[in-house]
Amino acid sequence: MGRMKAPPRLQALVEEGLIDTVVRQLMSGKEAMVYVVRCGDDTRCAKVYKDATERSFRQAVDYTENRKVKNTRQARAMAKGTRFGRQATEAAWQSAEVDALYRLAAAGVRVPKPHNFHDGVLLMELVVDANGDAAPRLNDVEFTPEQARTHHATLLTQVVRMLCAGVVHGDLSEFNILLAADGPVVIDLPQAVDAAGNNHAQRMLLRDVDNLRIFFGRFAPELLSTEHGHEIWDLYERGVLSPGVTLTGLFVRKSGAVDLGSVMREIDDALAEDAARKLRMQ
Ligand SMILES: Nc1ncnc2c1ncn2[C@@H]1O[C@H](COP(=O)(O)OP(=O)(O)OP(=O)(O)O)[C@@H](O)[C@H]1O
Ligand SMILES: [Mg+2]
Repeated sequence: MGRMKAPPRLQALVEEGLIDTVVRQLMSGKEAMVYVVRCGDDTRCAKVYKDATERSFRQAVDYTENRKVKNTRQARAMAKGTRFGRQATEAAWQSAEVDALYRLAAAGVRVPKPHNFHDGVLLMELVVDANGDAAPRLNDVEFTPEQARTHHATLLTQVVRMLCAGVVHGDLSEFNILLAADGPVVIDLPQAVDAAGNNHAQRMLLRDVDNLRIFFGRFAPELLSTEHGHEIWDLYERGVLSPGVTLTGLFVRKSGAVDLGSVMREIDDALAEDAARKLRMQ
């Protein structure tokens, strides 16, 4: 296997002995650079987070709501955007992904196994295909209707397990799911939110499930008319969601009662998103 000169951000991990060699760069995403590395006999994946200034804006609107911070000085600094505040926001953002990975792995969700988090670098399992090569994203794969139905069902089971563990992914789509030899693996979790404590959790869950519906609906059009998102959230709210639940894809709306609070939240969300979009375009 080849090797490359370790990029500066990985040098510290090489010196600490956490990484032996850097094999190659896998991807450069919006939020991170991803490398294939060797650690002893294992091949792993190193995700190096970019600085906040180089990242997209997706965490700005709703993801940071209710994120736990250690103390109020930190919370105030984060709100004011001082340098200390930015560092704290940064650390919270990065450790959110590590926390989510441990929590979800423990809940039986198929995510990359985390190995270490050091100096802004997450070392985790390299998800591989049947040949042992880095696994493709769903977006890069074609499916038969049968395969689409199977993967869609598998991923809904994963979404339910995540929600049972109190987590909503928040950016689930064909770009953040890899197709491993043994099936789909969910990745990219720094924006994951606490389902119970975040006002946007419902909207984010519905969006996650909708992304799956639309993607797999391209290959199996009958999926397009399913309503698993509403069904799952309804079960969750009523406290009867469990990992082994049987889903139907049907959802009967209660007629009459309008939840004014949630309508107002939808409006607020739309306004906040629009404001963030305008900021990005400046
Ligand atoms: N554990 C892993 N195993 C194999 N490949 C991975 C792993 N983690 C990430 N990758 C690859 O690196 C890419 C970027 O990772 P990730 O989505 O976590 O970062 P990101 O910066 O948020 O990227 P993007 O902005 O493209 O969503 C993934 O699409 C995938 O191809
Ligand atoms: Mg991604």
